[in-house]
Amino acid sequence: MARKKIALIGAGQIGGTLAHLVALKELGDVVLFDIVDGVPQGKALDLAQSGPVEGYNSTLKGTSEYADIAGADVVIVTAGVPRKPGMSRDDLLEINLKVMEQVGAGISKYAPDAFVICITNPLDAMVWALQKFSGLPKNKVVGMAGVLDSARFRHFIADELNVSVEDVTAFVMGGHGDTMVPLARYSTVAGIPLPDMVKMGWMSKEKLDQIIQRTRDGGAEIVGLLKTGSAFYAPAASAIEMAESYLKDKKRILPCAAYLSGEFGVKDMYVGVPIVIGEGGAEKIVEIELNGAEKKDFETSVASVEGLMDACKKIAPKLA
Ligand code: APR
Repeated sequence: MARKKIALIGAGQIGGTLAHLVALKELGDVVLFDIVDGVPQGKALDLAQSGPVEGYNSTLKGTSEYADIAGADVVIVTAGVPRKPGMSRDDLLEINLKVMEQVGAGISKYAPDAFVICITNPLDAMVWALQKFSGLPKNKVVGMAGVLDSARFRHFIADELNVSVEDVTAFVMGGHGDTMVPLARYSTVAGIPLPDMVKMGWMSKEKLDQIIQRTRDGGAEIVGLLKTGSAFYAPAASAIEMAESYLKDKKRILPCAAYLSGEFGVKDMYVGVPIVIGEGGAEKIVEIELNGAEKKDFETSVASVEGLMDACKKIAPKLA
């Protein structure tokens, strides 16, 4: 059986970490692509040289040629630029939309059968644009956000309660931004929903609310600490969990930015919802029931993603 091939578009902080994780977990061979000549080649060589020490057999190739991603089973996209001081949201959108157009063309030409995971921000708008630019089936293009946001939520809860992260589950829905919707009712400690943990006196309602807000601000907290970049270890680990579920047909239920065609009352857009990931890509949307307040928060989040999409359509009319 041929080895799986994982193409990573963008060899920056997240791209390099993704390559390392793919190799450590021996998910397949890696092609690391970037437009900056030398960086993907250098990182691939450095990682290949840790193979003898770690004992992994993945081959790693760095490239600036799209032809090298030919036949990839999974493509993970981190290409783009981060928002810099003085740059407006629309400036960022314009630059990253152009990047999505190039990346979409490359994937469509060389890896049209791949499962594509987008990480580039602003996530929900970028994954939507990437699907349109690539023309790949909607169930084969998803965005990574919910796994990361849920992991942050899980970490904060476990840390607060002094219990193992393994026993904490969490669901964060909606767009990947300030309006994301951490769902306390669907987040549990050893199966016990968080509101019940509050009733049991393990945590105050105020503390839970603080943790929910800290989860929403999770990305900004790390940017504030790092000062010169954004989070990369947890984003990479989260995308790998999604890729692994696809490659091994695990059928994990993971919150991801997925294309909705009427589910949750939302049509023709990407937003964070729980989905089943298996060999068919995004195989099923898990349409959980939302109560009044949750629904309202979700709708606010959807509206904010729609605002981003409208701004994209103004910049790139062919997306309309
Ligand atoms: N094609 C391929 N690669 C590109 C392109 C392009 N058109 N434009 C930029 N890149 C590359 C850059 O050269 C850089 O190496 O994308 C890489 C991005 O890496 P970093 O700047 O280190 O960013 P990273 O921390 O990896 O985050 C990537 O994920 O979480 C999001 O907001 C984050 O959008 C950002 C993305």
